[in-house]
This record gives sequence, C-alpha cells and structure tokens, in this order.
Amino acid sequence: MANNEKKKGGSYISAKASRQISKFNRKLTKKLEKDRNDAGKDPALYTTKMKNPDNVVEFDNVCTYFFTDIGTVKAVDGVTFDVPKCSTVGVVGESGCGKSVTSLSLMQLLQRPTGQTVGGEIRFNTGDGNALNIVKTPTAKMQEIRGNRISMIFQEPMTSLNPVFRIGRQVNEVLELHHPEMTEEQIKARTLEMLELVGIANKEGVYNMYPHELSGGMRQRVMIAIALACTPELIIADEPTTALDVTIQAQILDLLRELKDKINSSIMLITHDLGVVANMADYVVVMYAGRVIEKGTADDIFHNPCHPYTIGLMKSKPVVGKKVEELYNIPGSVPNPVDMPNYCYFKDRCEMQCEHCSGQYPPEIKISDTHVVSCYRFFEQGEILGYPKSANVEEL
Ligand SMILES: Nc1ncnc2c1ncn2[C@@H]1O[C@H](COP(=O)(O)OP(=O)(O)O)[C@@H](O)[C@H]1O
Ligand code: SF4
Ligand SMILES: [Mg+2]
Repeated sequence: MANNEKKKGGSYISAKASRQISKFNRKLTKKLEKDRNDAGKDPALYTTKMKNPDNVVEFDNVCTYFFTDIGTVKAVDGVTFDVPKCSTVGVVGESGCGKSVTSLSLMQLLQRPTGQTVGGEIRFNTGDGNALNIVKTPTAKMQEIRGNRISMIFQEPMTSLNPVFRIGRQVNEVLELHHPEMTEEQIKARTLEMLELVGIANKEGVYNMYPHELSGGMRQRVMIAIALACTPELIIADEPTTALDVTIQAQILDLLRELKDKINSSIMLITHDLGVVANMADYVVVMYAGRVIEKGTADDIFHNPCHPYTIGLMKSKPVVGKKVEELYNIPGSVPNPVDMPNYCYFKDRCEMQCEHCSGQYPPEIKISDTHVVSCYRFFEQGEILGYPKSANVEEL
C-alpha cells in the first residue's frame, strides 16, 4: 500500500487529507479568534450570573478541542462540575483524560490558536452578584484575574520558577503587577511574610537565593507563596506533589490545606493519585477520556463508587496492611481521542455491561443529592440530568 493512502480503519492519514484538515483548521481557528475578539468589546457578552452564588467557579458543558493536523482532539468534551466556596475539589483520572486542559481552559492558558474552548460556559464568581464567562472574557480582563483571583501551582517547580532571578524578585513580581498601590518596602515585607507563611525558616536568606540553590520541596513552597501572595479565591494545584518524594508530599499537602483555610479560598486539586484526594478533597470529580463520569462528595466516591471505572480505580489502589497477590489493573485502553465512539467510552473495557450499554453515550444520572454518575447501570434508579453536549465543529 502506498505511503500516502489512508489505511482503512487505521490511524494513518494521507498527505492530501492532512492538508485538507490543516486548511479547515486554519479557517476555523481564525474565525474563532475573531469571535473572541469581538465578544471582548462588549462586557454584556461575557458577563453572566452564577447558577449558585455559593460557588466560586462553575464549569458548564465545557468543550475544549485541539485542532491538529490529524484531526480534532476532543480533550475536554461537555464537562460540568462546580467548585463551591472554601472547599477542595479533587479532579482525578488517568494521564491524558483532560484534567490539565480543564484547568488551562479556566486560566485561559491554552496553546492557541490550536487549542480552543468551543462550547459551554466557565463562570467565575466576581463577588458582586455577577459572574464572568471566562470562555469569552478578553485577555486584558483575564490578566486582572489570573495570578490575582485565580492562581495556579504547577507540577514541576523548577520549570515554573525563572532560573535567572532571585526568589524574592519572583514573589515581588506578582505583587507589583496586581497591587501597583503598594510601595517597594510594603512589597518586600509582604514577600517575606509569605515565605514565612509557607514554612521557610530562613526567609531573608531564601529571599536572595536562586531557584537552583533550593531543594524540590522548598521550591514548591516558593511556588505556593507566589500563588497565594494576592490571596486568590481559587487555587488550582495541578499535580502539585508528583515531582516530590513521599514525606515532602505530605508536608506540602498539609501546608496547602492549612493555608486554604487561613485565606478562605477554594482549591481545585488535580491528581492521578487517589491517596492525595482521599486526604484533601471535600468533593471528587472523576474524569475519563475528556468527560466527567462520576462526581460527588469524597465520602460518596470513596465509600460508594458507582461507575465501573471508579470501582476499577479503587481496586487498583494499594492499601496498607492488605495482602494481595497482584494489584488489579483495568483491561484495555482509552479510545482514540480523534475518533471517539458514539456509545459509552468505557464500554470496550467494561466488565459490568447491561442491556442499554450499546446505545448512545450514557446520561448523567443523579443517584443522591450529591452523587452523579454517567452509567446505564443506574438508568432505572436515578433522575436523568441530561447528556453531555459536544460542540459541532462543522457548525462553528
Ligand atoms: N497542545 C496540545 N495539542 C494537541 N493535543 C493536546 C495538547 N495538549 C493536550 N492535548 C491532548 O489533550 C488530552 C488531555 O490532556 P491533559 O489535559 O494534559 O491530560 P491530563 O489529564 O493528564 O492532565 C490528551 O489526549 C492530550 O493528548
Ligand atoms: S454505561 Fe455500560 S459500558 Fe458504560 S460503564 Fe456503565 S455499565 Fe459499563
Ligand atoms: Mg496533566
């Protein structure tokens, strides 16, 4: 078979098809960028209301797609969940399920123009009875919010800190940007206060150090100081402890929990590690292949997991004191993100299928006031809330 022919049923695409996709993508992303710029001119187009004023952020059927040369990657497709005030929401799921893309959509830090939020709303509570729809908020407005009212702690502190600037300067920078009214002395005093707050004993010394002079745990503490300097309403922690060893992990998580209560903010904690979530989260959102498949309180998810994927995750978690021959692993793999099936995404791996499973993608089913699951096993037992809405790329 010639190299440039599309292999039937395979993942190869011909050069011609790839060119067509690129052309389509260029046209579409140009239009999407223009729509975004136009929406930015009129605040009415990006001002909205929260569904529940007790939430800081509401994700409502959010669709974030990447328009690549091999096709549209539906990284996040119809994701709906809330982050209530002063609480910790754990977002869990295996690598590649769309956790980071969800948070980057909220921060407007997607790699544009390839990555675009093409559907749904992300509402951020501005506290004055209104909300911003982040999807349509212009970049200039977003810069007032990012790092100030919503801040982010990344996985790898060494790559997030600038290696050529001293620590003090890097913490000062956020304060200078968002609080132009503060004097130089006030800023330095606040930076030292933050370094002390995150448990750095030698704050004056660390103020003058470069990132490479600090250990991984210390660097992550500095990242937390930067994220918290402006007392944000929401802190996004994306795998904050994955790069750290276990004892330091526990210290950093304790610190985050303690500081969150001190400044009355919420945390969106992204992790593939169920252990981290169990110790920290009030609510848990489980994602699979770009969709939320189960959500509820930590108690619902850990004591009554309902989706076969969540049940599988629980079984594959090692438990101290429990002797097992071999840890459970979920058979099969995640479907191709460029070509998702039109039935349940977990079906090909699912050992609990029932009569409805070959039909369309399962709806969200409410099985208690706090617990929602997308699985046909509960079709007759709970209230149907609705189906996740994909964006129709052809119609954008
Ligand atoms: N810049 C990009 N271009 C194309 N695809 C991307 C890009 N960033 C992420 N993706 C895809 O989006 C999906 C979700 O990624 P991500 O949110 O980073 O996963 P994780 O849950 O591990 O944080 C993956 O399938 C990934 O391949
Ligand atoms: S809907 Fe069916 S196939 Fe999908 S997870 Fe539930 S039982 Fe399995
Ligand atoms: Mg990630």
